[in-house]
Amino acid sequence: MENDATLTIGENAYALNIIEGTESEKAVDISSLRKQSKFITFDDGYGNTGSCESSVTFIDGDKGILRYRGFDIADLATSSNFLETSYLVIYGELPSANELDLFKERVYKFAKLPDEVISAIHAQPKNSHPMGVLAAGLQSLGGAYPHYCTNDRKADLDCFDESAALIISTVRTIAATRHRFLLNEGVPESNPTASYCQNFLSMMFGNDSSSEDIPASVINALDLIFLLHADHEQNCSTSTCRMIASGGANPFASLAGGVSALWGPLHGGANMAVIKMLNQIHDAGDDGSRFIESAKQGKTRLMGFGHRVYRNYDPRAKILKSACDDALEALGVSSPILEIARRLEEEALKDPYFVERKLYPNVDFYSGIILQALGFPTDMFTVLFAIGRTPGWLAHWKEIAETGKKIHRPRQIYQGSPLRPYSALEKR
Ligand code: SDX
Repeated sequence: MENDATLTIGENAYALNIIEGTESEKAVDISSLRKQSKFITFDDGYGNTGSCESSVTFIDGDKGILRYRGFDIADLATSSNFLETSYLVIYGELPSANELDLFKERVYKFAKLPDEVISAIHAQPKNSHPMGVLAAGLQSLGGAYPHYCTNDRKADLDCFDESAALIISTVRTIAATRHRFLLNEGVPESNPTASYCQNFLSMMFGNDSSSEDIPASVINALDLIFLLHADHEQNCSTSTCRMIASGGANPFASLAGGVSALWGPLHGGANMAVIKMLNQIHDAGDDGSRFIESAKQGKTRLMGFGHRVYRNYDPRAKILKSACDDALEALGVSSPILEIARRLEEEALKDPYFVERKLYPNVDFYSGIILQALGFPTDMFTVLFAIGRTPGWLAHWKEIAETGKKIHRPRQIYQGSPLRPYSALEKR
């Protein structure tokens, strides 16, 4: 759609193009605005700004729609699995049986970490958070495979199938290696014949029982959680990955940046914050109503609620809410905090404060309850989010590398001091 928008500033009118997406989203293309008018636009936090055109994921926040490469998240949750969905997110199509076997073979062969990476993980300060260790582990991994991270876009793309499989495989091993090290349990043994989640659970909690003894319900619950986290278009951490990729940096550097961005409590760190919140409510003998009041007064936030894009129920939360019952029943565990979560949701969804602000449960509200029931330590919950999000981050690195986008460099409006002369120290 050429020149369908006109921006009038004072006496001047500026013709701008309109871009329309395949799902009829529309944007005013302002890429010529500064050249035409010397004006830039301002959008603190980018809530109204499209940073790119992408084909990976579509979200309709008003309708609560989430699709990976055109496939609805509910269909994938019902019929697919994490590795097949990872292939879809990265390569754009569901794999044939042969393509999936080849992808799995590539991923499974990389499960073992090089010794120098294991040493780097063990060398992290003892109080390092698992997310900090994961980011450091990814950079160390790149150091162990220098031919996969040359920072030459063509060279890094040529080996992307291998480097992507390596990263998808070893984010599990980095997480499990650190966990077992802190327990003084040595280096986990990877079982290359076990499935993706089976091997990860075995590396995490492996004891005398082999990975074959892990109940299918546990494996399936974790696989679902990873699948639901696989991508979510231009969220804070994915946009960070794209920003880093736009400078020509390799996938290891890009994903280490994504891990760092995901760590924040307003983003991926929320799944840890939800469990902490639910435990606090439980320990205070509160049925949730006191906590909701404090959230309404702005004293705290109902973690796991609200979203920058969804102004409706996050479809992932809907799937996880029902998966909670199945997982807890299959695990034979009850969860007092699940009942509290249910009550919080019920109360919030009929409270004008939340209704007026269109605050609904997001992906983090129920995921932590399942992860806690699976036996993961709370401070690893965001690492598990990162493991799930790895294919999405890789898909966006690939999209930037293939489209050869310019380096991302937003503008600003300067609000600092006007020009002033230097004053000698003795005069200050
Ligand atoms: C993820 O972007 C993605 O796609 C992210 C993600 C992904 O898959 O990558 O979906 C994963 O990060 C999910 C979000 C996880 N974070 C949380 O659960 C933390 C709790 N939620 C909030 O902090 C908040 O809702 C955000 C950060 C998620 C969104 O914030 P917004 O859209 O910027 O909303 P806002 O801060 O402008 O708040 C609008 C109003 C404010 O009240 P008023 O000033 O109008 O009176 O809503 C209130 C806020 O105080 N509000 C909340 C609230 N979230 C917003 N009040 C209580 N509890 C909350 N959770």
